[in-house]
Amino acid sequence: MTEVTTPRQALLEVKGLRTAFPGEDGPVVLVDRVSLSVHAGETLAVVGESGSGKTMTFLSVLGLVPRPGRVVAGEVRFGGVDLVQLAPAELRAIRGAGVAMVFQDPLTALNPVFTIGDQLVEVIRAHRPLRAAAARKLAIETLERVHIPDPSRRVDDFPHQLSGGMRQRVLIAMAIALGPKVLVADEPTTALDVTVQAQILELLAELRAELGMGMVLITHDLGLVAKHAERVAVMYAGRVVETCRVEDGFADARHPYTRSLLGSIPRLDGPPGEALPAIEGMPPNLAALPPGCPFEPRCFLGRGRETCRASRPGLAATDREGHASACHHWSELAEDAA
Ligand SMILES: Nc1ncnc2c1ncn2[C@@H]1O[C@H](COP(=O)(O)OP(=O)(O)OP(=O)(O)O)[C@@H](O)[C@H]1O
Ligand SMILES: [Mg+2]
Repeated sequence: MTEVTTPRQALLEVKGLRTAFPGEDGPVVLVDRVSLSVHAGETLAVVGESGSGKTMTFLSVLGLVPRPGRVVAGEVRFGGVDLVQLAPAELRAIRGAGVAMVFQDPLTALNPVFTIGDQLVEVIRAHRPLRAAAARKLAIETLERVHIPDPSRRVDDFPHQLSGGMRQRVLIAMAIALGPKVLVADEPTTALDVTVQAQILELLAELRAELGMGMVLITHDLGLVAKHAERVAVMYAGRVVETCRVEDGFADARHPYTRSLLGSIPRLDGPPGEALPAIEGMPPNLAALPPGCPFEPRCFLGRGRETCRASRPGLAATDREGHASACHHWSELAEDAA
């Protein structure tokens, strides 16, 4: 497997990460040898169909894999340590203050019976030994930072008193309150209407610049990739199948799955919020993966081909710098483009 290297030092470097759950016929691997890196001031977009392992990958990074699943191999390098090896208490300290995540489901992420101020203060005090008044002050400042209007009053609101967009801002506030170096935003705009989506993405971009964070944007929306990310990792069946810089490769992909994803949206620069229409066929059953390429049965390039059925392609360098593809026949796509 060839590694894709970038000259600058990464803030977060994931290498060969593997996460499995026990299944009826042995372990089911939901995240399979995923390698990726996040750099300061850059956004890595992670895309792929539903169930491809985007969320599970970052739950694995943060040590939040639900039981009985667990990380079974790999490294997560952050600030000179391997998060996979840390004890739970050490990991809790890094979560929030080092690497923070805005979770996918905004309804379950906020507790309806506590004010947003209480919830922010709880996050802050779990990490910093501040008195109640100082923590509340920091909570209000953080709400201001995510542009909640009149934050010293809204801090005492309950979640249901806020609009969907404002609730998403509160979740972002909870994630950035402790000044993380890396922010993982899991589908931060899926539940919102188009105008509000644009505002949230603008806010994330602003915070990234202001705080110099590295960002991960997990999204179904390929339109967002071109606009908001410098690099992209495409996931299929728990693996990264293609990764490249957005400007010199995404539109001219070297993996048939990515081509199909791109082909199934009207325009790359189209309006945000367009759902990803399904590619023909179903994602594979992870509990019974065939020996060959997991995308083979659905692939316009490889369906029925002996090479594709015989062995599973690893992520390997292509003709372009910093561009890797897990396809036996990526060069045919390159010729196609020329
Ligand atoms: N708690 C769990 N126990 C067992 N399997 C799980 C669990 N959570 C998720 N999975 C499985 O892990 C795989 C990856 O799921 P994941 O949620 O990471 O996908 P995703 O790419 O984030 O999808 P979506 O776009 O729908 O959010 C799926 O096959 C899913 O069914
Ligand atoms: Mg998900």
